[in-house]
Amino acid sequence: SVPVITVDGPSGVGKGTVSRGLAARLGWQRLDSGALYRILALAAVDAGITLSDTDAVAALAGGLDIRFTGDHEDNEAIWVNGRDIKSAVRAEATGGLASQIAAAPAVRAALLQRQKDFRVAPGLIGDGRDMGTVVFPDAALKLFLTASAEERARRRLLQLRAAGQDAILADLCTEISTRDERDRTRTVAPLVPASDAILIDTTHLNPTQVAERVEGLVKD
Ligand code: CDP
Repeated sequence: SVPVITVDGPSGVGKGTVSRGLAARLGWQRLDSGALYRILALAAVDAGITLSDTDAVAALAGGLDIRFTGDHEDNEAIWVNGRDIKSAVRAEATGGLASQIAAAPAVRAALLQRQKDFRVAPGLIGDGRDMGTVVFPDAALKLFLTASAEERARRRLLQLRAAGQDAILADLCTEISTRDERDRTRTVAPLVPASDAILIDTTHLNPTQVAERVEGLVKD
């Protein structure tokens, strides 16, 4: 079957950079699974649905026409029902909304097949929280990235600034820790490494060093 490499881990750990780099180098597709949760949360808010009404949120998923365009860079457009909503999808507040709906079993079930459908030849890089545990348990290589909350908040701040936004480091750190805690302690698909995942602590590694570590694992 079509090979998959999974890249899981908490917010701001550099999964996007690693998975985009791998996808570009191998010429494989990339699934940004977090974007699907973000898109669904935005669509629910748009439709006036209360996020705690998880059955109603889940019911929305099937009707969403979602398309990612562009190359592996982060400047791709995200088309939902014909509108490019990329900036709203990437907004920091949307991550919090996504993590609220992501705790619901009905929501996760509604997005499961859509995620599996990204698995097309020649291969797929799956970026998320449960790629190696739930969505692609048979992946050929599973990576789980970690870094301290402080370092992840610092990276997120740089990322926001590069996108022309701003934030306060301490606020980001609190926001990231709250979201991590929710993601780790939820009953379905909690944020934990797959038993066969390779853990990479990136706290003291720069992007090039992380890429080198990952490349070494892909070659084995
Ligand atoms: O960009 P960042 O890593 O902060 O977030 P994201 O990957 O876009 O994910 C946003 C939220 O969606 C996470 O905090 C999770 O609660 C949820 N999510 C999930 O539950 N499972 C996934 N495979 C991906 C994201």
